[in-house]
Amino acid sequence: MKPIKPSFFRPLRRLSALVLTALVLAAITLTGCSGASHKRIVRIGHNQSTNHPTHIALTAFQNYINERLGDQYTVEVYPSELLGSQTDMVQLTQTGAIDYCIASNAILETFSKNYEIFNLPYLFASTEAYHHAMDDPLITNPIFTSTQKAGFTAVTWLDAGTRNFYTVQKPIESPSDLKGLKIRVQQSPTNIEMMRLLGGSATPMGFGDVYTALQSHIIDGAENNEMALTDNGHGDVCKYYSYDMHQMVPDILIGNNAFIEDLTQEERKIFEEGYDLINQVQREEWVKAVNQARDKAATEQKVQFLYPDQAPFVKACFPLHESVLQNNSAIRPIYDAIQNYNTQYPTTVQ
Ligand code: GCU
Repeated sequence: MKPIKPSFFRPLRRLSALVLTALVLAAITLTGCSGASHKRIVRIGHNQSTNHPTHIALTAFQNYINERLGDQYTVEVYPSELLGSQTDMVQLTQTGAIDYCIASNAILETFSKNYEIFNLPYLFASTEAYHHAMDDPLITNPIFTSTQKAGFTAVTWLDAGTRNFYTVQKPIESPSDLKGLKIRVQQSPTNIEMMRLLGGSATPMGFGDVYTALQSHIIDGAENNEMALTDNGHGDVCKYYSYDMHQMVPDILIGNNAFIEDLTQEERKIFEEGYDLINQVQREEWVKAVNQARDKAATEQKVQFLYPDQAPFVKACFPLHESVLQNNSAIRPIYDAIQNYNTQYPTTVQ
């Protein structure tokens, strides 16, 4: 399937988002069920294409629930920002207009400060340390349950790889190359502060707006995993991708509290098995998808991959760890537990 080019689809998606959101709200307000069959429709929104590991994993969840609880529930998955941006979808999940959505950990820090921890640059020493930490409920539970009052809870995490800088014209080989460049970051205070420390000019915006902003030179670059080059077409515009490896920011599946609490014990168990399935399928698909993206970006889009010395980037970002910890002492034990994994898994084994 061809990559979704946001510049072309954006107006259509905005319209679709409005129409669909209105439909969703109307349907839930009127019945909460699907037409004649009286099944409860379970709606999940996300912002990736239907090629993406996230969509593949949610489709596995959809099949799992529909096979086991299909007489009562029908799971529907809405990709490609059809229900709005991630921030819109989190708000729809909060109110129960939809039941689940996938949001980057980055934007969740505006709903609960505890999420700041996974947005810290150079938090994890390796992919292995990252995966072990994210699989440890002692680390994730205090964060995943911290939005109870906001009306939603995180039920699993998804891999979103490593974030790196990529630019239209100027290759980034050290933080000083970022000076004077407008770089799109996710809408999170931690990310904005990270860019300030690195010397670039942070331009926060939603994911769906990045392609057009790059193409029209509103921004000089962005930062993301390799899938953004191919699946979102950013590699058609940006020809330099620098592995400074500044962040491993997970994606998070969040669910509406009222919906989850209304499930019977038996149904909840099946949904929980489904969340585990999402995590497992997405991680398997992720490894394949990133390798394919890197190949395609290099051979078809002619993106040049650079491997700068990470030390100056790490040094510039490090003060952010202490300032975030000082502002929220509750996350210090979690930070320390992550350091234990960093000691056990100091380097990525590919
Ligand atoms: C990744 C991540 C998304 C996020 C996007 C972004 O693609 O998986 O959840 O929205 O980055 O930079 O906004």
